[in-house]
Amino acid sequence: MLKVGIVGASGYAGEELNKILSRHRKVKIVSLSATYARKEAGIEAFDLNRTISSCELVFFALPQAQSMRFVPKVLEAGKKVIDLGADYRLKNIREYKFWYNAGHIDQKNLKYSIYGLPEIYKDKIKKAKLVANPGCYPTAAILSLAPLLNKKLIKSAPIVIDAKSGLSGAGRKAVEGGLSDELKNNFRPYKINYHQHMPEINQELSFICKKKVSVNFVPHLLPLFRGLLTTTYVKLLPKSSLSQDKIIKIYRQFYKDQPFIRIAGQGETPQVTDVAGTNFCKIGIFWKNKSGMLVIVSAIDNLLKGAAGQAVQNMNLIYGFGETEGLL
Ligand SMILES: NC(=O)c1ccc[n+]([C@@H]2O[C@H](COP(=O)([O-])OP(=O)(O)OC[C@H]3O[C@@H](n4cnc5c(N)ncnc54)[C@H](OP(=O)(O)O)[C@@H]3O)[C@@H](O)[C@H]2O)c1
Repeated sequence: MLKVGIVGASGYAGEELNKILSRHRKVKIVSLSATYARKEAGIEAFDLNRTISSCELVFFALPQAQSMRFVPKVLEAGKKVIDLGADYRLKNIREYKFWYNAGHIDQKNLKYSIYGLPEIYKDKIKKAKLVANPGCYPTAAILSLAPLLNKKLIKSAPIVIDAKSGLSGAGRKAVEGGLSDELKNNFRPYKINYHQHMPEINQELSFICKKKVSVNFVPHLLPLFRGLLTTTYVKLLPKSSLSQDKIIKIYRQFYKDQPFIRIAGQGETPQVTDVAGTNFCKIGIFWKNKSGMLVIVSAIDNLLKGAAGQAVQNMNLIYGFGETEGLL
């Protein structure tokens, strides 16, 4: 049995990790910790040395600019890390400082971190010691655009991503601090074109199409607890004159070996309830020639495919367990 620990176990992502790992047949949770102990939930006050000595793999589910304070020591001890936060996602440290308002203090390990999106980086993840688990919005957005950019079927600008997330995406403190009251019978955009997930989406889409991509990204918060959906507008390149049916086939072919991707059929619209409580990403493609814009809808559960489920999928790949183990 693989011995694992969760740091940040009292948060929304940590709590989901605990649930999935508790029923996983190949792992044993040996350490649950957070800033403060919660004895009734088996959570201890975080102690780095104790965590390192008891675990082979540590999941960090902490607020930004926290995990990079601890990860170097875990790796030095020969243990592995899956970080659910943003500290090891952006490869450019100037961008990190700008978007997260903190200087990066572990550039050495940042160089070797692997972006944990299995549908794109599976082979690299299998060999990784440090996985940067993707953000929730980037997971849905990148998966919805990768086939088109990889096959060079769309213009790299404009790409307009209109995104909506349930409240849990903001973390427990924000929700319990009044966000759920504010959003009763309401919803609103926030951080329009300056959300910290935008550079992450740009970085990964640029890697995929080997050309600089700069998306427009507008997130919204919805009055529901979990679930996230992106609606993306792109222009097909004139030479690609494709039917909707053909584009659906291209997506199915691109993701044919990926157990957690579902491509909707003609006329089927992905919705949050299709994926809530699962590790699936459901993608629908809508293309009417006259409108000029191709529309792609992508739905995930922000706490699962957007966080804890994807982290377990990454663990399964690193340790050679079945990719879907504990997740179906
Ligand atoms: N929520 C999502 O949908 C989602 C999706 C993808 C990625 N993520 C990322 O996952 C991470 C966790 O998100 P979350 O929503 O679960 O946040 P959260 O609900 O606010 O939980 C944060 C957790 O971190 C603990 N913590 C904070 N500082 C700590 C420290 N110095 N040492 C030990 N524990 C500490 C907190 O413990 P105390 O309560 O005791 O302080 C709590 O358990 C974030 O980086 C977030 O961006 C979240």
